[in-house]
Amino acid sequence: MLGNTFGRIFQITTCGESYGWHATAEDPGNWGGSLFCIVNGVPPGIKLDVKRIQDELFKRRPGQSKLDSPRKETDIVEVVAGLQEGITTGAPVGLLVRNVDTQDIHVQQYRDVKDVVRPGHAELNFLYKYGEHGDWCGAGRASGRETVGRVAGGAVAKQILARENIEILAHVIESHGIKGRSVAEGTMTFEELKANYRKNDLNCCDLDQAKVMIADLLKVRDAGDTAGGTIEIIARGVPAALGEPVFDKLKATIAHGLCSIGAMTGLEFGSGAAAARTLGSEWNDQPVLEDGKVRFQTNHSGGFSGGMSNGEDLIIRMYVKATPTISKQQDTVDLKTMQAKKLAAVTRRDISICPRIYPVAEAMVACSVLDALYMSRAWYGVARLDPKWEGLTGPRNKGEYTK
Ligand SMILES: Cc1cc2nc3c(=O)[nH]c(=O)nc-3n(C[C@H](O)[C@H](O)[C@H](O)COP(=O)(O)O)c2cc1C
Repeated sequence: MLGNTFGRIFQITTCGESYGWHATAEDPGNWGGSLFCIVNGVPPGIKLDVKRIQDELFKRRPGQSKLDSPRKETDIVEVVAGLQEGITTGAPVGLLVRNVDTQDIHVQQYRDVKDVVRPGHAELNFLYKYGEHGDWCGAGRASGRETVGRVAGGAVAKQILARENIEILAHVIESHGIKGRSVAEGTMTFEELKANYRKNDLNCCDLDQAKVMIADLLKVRDAGDTAGGTIEIIARGVPAALGEPVFDKLKATIAHGLCSIGAMTGLEFGSGAAAARTLGSEWNDQPVLEDGKVRFQTNHSGGFSGGMSNGEDLIIRMYVKATPTISKQQDTVDLKTMQAKKLAAVTRRDISICPRIYPVAEAMVACSVLDALYMSRAWYGVARLDPKWEGLTGPRNKGEYTK
């Protein structure tokens, strides 16, 4: 399998599957492998807070409410490389999370349908690509479990970004067509988002609408079905001019990161699709001078200009489809008999992926922004700029590029 690394200078490389297999020289092994993330590009001298990595993983952990998969994973992270007496050494950081809930009964449920295509899932393409020895248990690396490594690596990125006063938060703004308030629409402030962050099982920061959404999802669950929704991601404190102007626009790097997450079906930046229906006179974010810095009266662009950051909040929406695994009967094919078949899945699943995916989105935006920051610093390390431009860049640029 290729393509398990994300990033150019700050890089995460992940491995590990939904169930996996654990073997030693003495023991041919059993179900229950591990998920692993190698983080490249961590500076030396950082007091890595392992509790903060753990907290990020706890946001994503299954079995926290009736909305997520009942799978009982502890998701305990072990830092196994790159640290000395709690401080990073500049060597790659190795993060390990063991799969612990891989019981035979669940393996058997997957074995029973291993030749039956699960509608909406990625397994058929895995079979086309890897043949009969491809991983059939719990969807292998097409499982949401793959995202553990991203969240662990993203948690390291977040700690480095925090030193730069950059903060990334995501929340659910729509579930199964039920809308909540959002920062992009100006119906919620970033401060309210922060205050209400993770106050309910869905992590919808519009607390009233969250109750309606959760009640609806429980009905969806009782009907044997699943539902999709929308995540809003805000990155605050991102300095202006991050991202390279052509192929490596910050917008493109973030899109790469977010589009690599399973179950996402669309992205919008700022006012997104609405921009296509808006006049230039309505859409343009008009610059104003504020304390000698360039700010904007509105943020329809979602904090991007020329694909690079403009110093305002980055605002991104990510659309998430309904969980493919459902108990309702659907048409499919059996690849062993090459006959039509009906499938009503019995395997464990999330009723909505939204309460599980928002920390993954935060992680991928964190890795993208940090990688772009490293690229910018590398560029400014060799380029010499005229200091007179320094004060004109965005409000949160502390002149860090122009030395
Ligand atoms: C955090 C997370 C949790 C997921 N949970 C499930 C699940 O419980 N059941 C399921 O069928 N798919 C789940 N998925 C979705 C699949 O991983 C993925 O959507 C599926 O393989 C199809 O891939 P595609 O949507 O990219 O085509 C989850 C995805 C993520 C990111």
